[in-house]
Amino acid sequence: MAQTGQEFNVDDKKLHEIVHEADNVVPRPTPKEFFEKQPHKSLQNFSDYEKLYRESIENPDKFFGEKAHEFLSWDHDFHKVQWGSFKDGEIAWFLGGKLNASYNCVDRFAFATPDKPAVIFEADDESESRILTFADLLREVSKVAGLLQSWGVKKGDIVAIYLPMTPEAIIAMLACVRLGAVHSCIFAGFSAGSIKERIIDADCKVVITCDEGKRGGRVTHSKEILNSALKECPDVEKVLVYKRTGNPEVEMVEGRDFWWQEEADQFPGYIPPVSVDSEDPLFILYTSGSTGAPKGVVHCTAGYLLGAALTTRYVFDLQPEDILFTAGDVGWITGHTYALYGPLSLGVPTIVFEGTPAYPDMGRFWKIIEKYKATHFYVAPTALRMLKKSGEAEIAKYDLSSLRTLGSVGEPIASEIWKWYDEKIGHKCCHIADTYWQTESGSHLIAPLAGAVPTKPGAATLPFFGIDAVIIDPTTGKVREGNDVEGVLGVRSPWPSMARTVYHCHQRFLNAYLRPYPGFYFTGDGAGRDHDGYYWIRGRVDDVVNVSGHRLSTGEIESVLLENKKVSESAVVGISDDLTGQAVIAAVQLKEPELITDDESLLALRKKLRLHVRKVIGPFAAPKTIIIVDDLPKTRSGKIIRRIIRKICSGEGDSIGDTSTMANPEVVAKLEAEVEQQFGVKN
Ligand code: PRX
Repeated sequence: MAQTGQEFNVDDKKLHEIVHEADNVVPRPTPKEFFEKQPHKSLQNFSDYEKLYRESIENPDKFFGEKAHEFLSWDHDFHKVQWGSFKDGEIAWFLGGKLNASYNCVDRFAFATPDKPAVIFEADDESESRILTFADLLREVSKVAGLLQSWGVKKGDIVAIYLPMTPEAIIAMLACVRLGAVHSCIFAGFSAGSIKERIIDADCKVVITCDEGKRGGRVTHSKEILNSALKECPDVEKVLVYKRTGNPEVEMVEGRDFWWQEEADQFPGYIPPVSVDSEDPLFILYTSGSTGAPKGVVHCTAGYLLGAALTTRYVFDLQPEDILFTAGDVGWITGHTYALYGPLSLGVPTIVFEGTPAYPDMGRFWKIIEKYKATHFYVAPTALRMLKKSGEAEIAKYDLSSLRTLGSVGEPIASEIWKWYDEKIGHKCCHIADTYWQTESGSHLIAPLAGAVPTKPGAATLPFFGIDAVIIDPTTGKVREGNDVEGVLGVRSPWPSMARTVYHCHQRFLNAYLRPYPGFYFTGDGAGRDHDGYYWIRGRVDDVVNVSGHRLSTGEIESVLLENKKVSESAVVGISDDLTGQAVIAAVQLKEPELITDDESLLALRKKLRLHVRKVIGPFAAPKTIIIVDDLPKTRSGKIIRRIIRKICSGEGDSIGDTSTMANPEVVAKLEAEVEQQFGVKN
């Protein structure tokens, strides 16, 4: 049994025993038996879902008031369930209530089940894996919270966290919220420019990072990248550095940078959590929108935590005896909600995986599932596409019979991938949950309740409790009632876990989500509702591109390309890609095209532009293809027509339609020729 008060390394076999000591291995049931044996454990059947859903929409105060008491521990009860509306642009839930999220995720289980695994860390290098029990987690979180407190961090302060997917990321996040401070996690794949922008925007004085990270057998240079970002962040006073690799060459700035292991150990293993108001912010997470710099989406404590707990319980059917493996990163919302707050608020162990699905081979995910007997697995379709391509040999090596629910997130899952997931990974014995949601929604919006709501391959199915989903006609702004309708997806009334604002810019929040269709929340996605009332997500209708589940703003990439002095205009579009879902394609126009004409200089310029995007935003944002043109397609008023570029790059040049209203219709043929030359797409 894992020991309280101590972290340790263990070998595979032992880990197996620790996690599932009392488990009897039962033979895999046939699908029929499985469904008879494994209905949703919290609901009886589909009519239960329908009944609860109706209650949640007709009487949200009663429904969510009761759930908030059932799922969360309060220091002080709330007196009003909700307030405000989309029309007012202000929303609040559980008014008057006081609680602490770290207490809810750690203390209450550390006292009841101290030896139960809380964070199961699967390191990139398997031999470095370890388990933290709830008691361990309470101790580590308290120590870091004590340290941060000694640095003056207090309720309301925003602390930046630039850490890869390790237990330390979870400890750091919970340490902040223990003090009532707000965490702002910055994805470990972001480069210096993006880190700087986020630290400055949130006015962070303290940053938490590590010396280096380990991923896919390689070392990532977290501190070095942060050091370069901090050159332009004069207000950062303290940096806490977790020694992950111990490379002595990592540069520490005296008086500013401190080693986590040396400092935290001086603080007690328990400090009391600070009680905060329901609506006090829990975290900020930056995400890309159609316009401008990334938005710091603000989530508040009680509503967010309730949404995380409820969806994890009801959608995934995650029960106390289960183990959840969310293969997402804490740098994104999936890691926040379903690697940390959802499972831990239910007292369920979460598997934190540092590596990649392809290292040391394509069987890594399956090996992890077998090793820890994970009951739930949650991943983006982009990884499934890659794993499907790699064949079945690696899957066959592992026993995946512990699995009960398989989740998908981040982008539409094609029905062919859905079926592969169901057959090859779930062996037709698992519930498949395609979960549609967003950074801003905090938790699932549309998703089946595993074992209670029948599924259709490729459909996100039906809305979660409290989500009054609507399909809006984008031209009239009117709601399309009934079934068999297409349009943009909106929500009619507030739900507890929705974002409340964009950090220090409420106007941006209103403009992006509440003003486009007054009276509704606008998701930015197109969707259809079929004859059964099931929702099918079609993808973004704004200038957001989804590459391997990473959400990118085309506008942001365009402005980075414009930083090159040779570029006069740029247009970025997303086109379908077999592996990554969508790929970024950039078309750039040069200031003096006559100066760069030979192939070698053009190649060098493309390389330079791609590298610049990698450096400023991150490797995942680098355009797959850069087309250099004399002129971009424009309207008579001078607006770039991205639709034409998208169509040509997708090989759909035939369907461009009427070009007579363009200012420069002659560019279409030129663009087609350039695209054909660049990546062989014939229109
Ligand atoms: O376009 C939708 C797509 O991802 C967007 C949200 O991205 P982000 O805030 O980064 O959060 C990703 C993880 C929740 C959505 O607007 N998206 C997310 N899940 C799905 C999806 N598209 C289709 N099906 C999904 N299941």
